[in-house]
Amino acid sequence: MRRRWTIALRILTHLAALSPLAILIWDFAQGQLTVNPIQEIQLRTGKYALILLVLSLACTPISTAFRTTWVLSLRRPLGLYAFMYASLHFLNFIGLDYGFDFAFIWADIAQKRFALAGFATFLLLLTVAVTSTRRCMKRLGKKWERLHRLVYIAAPLAVLHFIWQAKADIREPLAYGLIVAVLLVMRTPPVKRRLSELGGKFSRNRPAREDKAHG
Ligand code: HEM
Repeated sequence: MRRRWTIALRILTHLAALSPLAILIWDFAQGQLTVNPIQEIQLRTGKYALILLVLSLACTPISTAFRTTWVLSLRRPLGLYAFMYASLHFLNFIGLDYGFDFAFIWADIAQKRFALAGFATFLLLLTVAVTSTRRCMKRLGKKWERLHRLVYIAAPLAVLHFIWQAKADIREPLAYGLIVAVLLVMRTPPVKRRLSELGGKFSRNRPAREDKAHG
């Protein structure tokens, strides 16, 4: 039962992560991407990348708080989908927006702090994505865990990029910043310990019927 539940959840995760892309392609084909489609693609892909990055960061604290492991299997696909949207975001920027004129692209990135922060985030996500295979995990051993902590830098940097690119209203980027900050604090040893204790109480108090439904 638990295996079936986990498989269903994984399929749902793939569908949920791919559906914004399907909607984007549909809107593009229908000519429904506002009067500035390139900017609309830029904004949507950036937002999806950040949301998926935040969701992948949320897996470990959820697992600790609810003493459940199934959620951990979603961490990798969510992280890879975040990277996929970040790549589309970057491709849109260098291809559709700047026509692959690399001298111009680099000059622009170097001049704008928001673009520099975005580029740095992208490089961190790229490093984590290419080393996310089981092979790399085995080969790098302990170093792999340390390397994958780069996401703890990538997420706040993505928020900084979001804040710096905002023209006036920074409430939304700040809300993401708050969520990322809470998720990172939940990883610190004292908070993690407290969460785990609460998780223990939660699982002891959980009605037996609910355990059966998930097991
Ligand atoms: C590869 C380097 C990157 C470049 C050159 C870049 C560039 C841009 C540009 C030009 C915009 C739109 C600015 C506007 O039209 O007002 C933008 C928005 C955004 N980007 Fe990036 N970006 C990069 C990487 C990233 C990454 C890695 C993430 C997230 C993981 C990200 C998340 C966002 C978000 C959330 C927005 C705002 C979306 C909104 O306002 O709804 N970007 N970026």
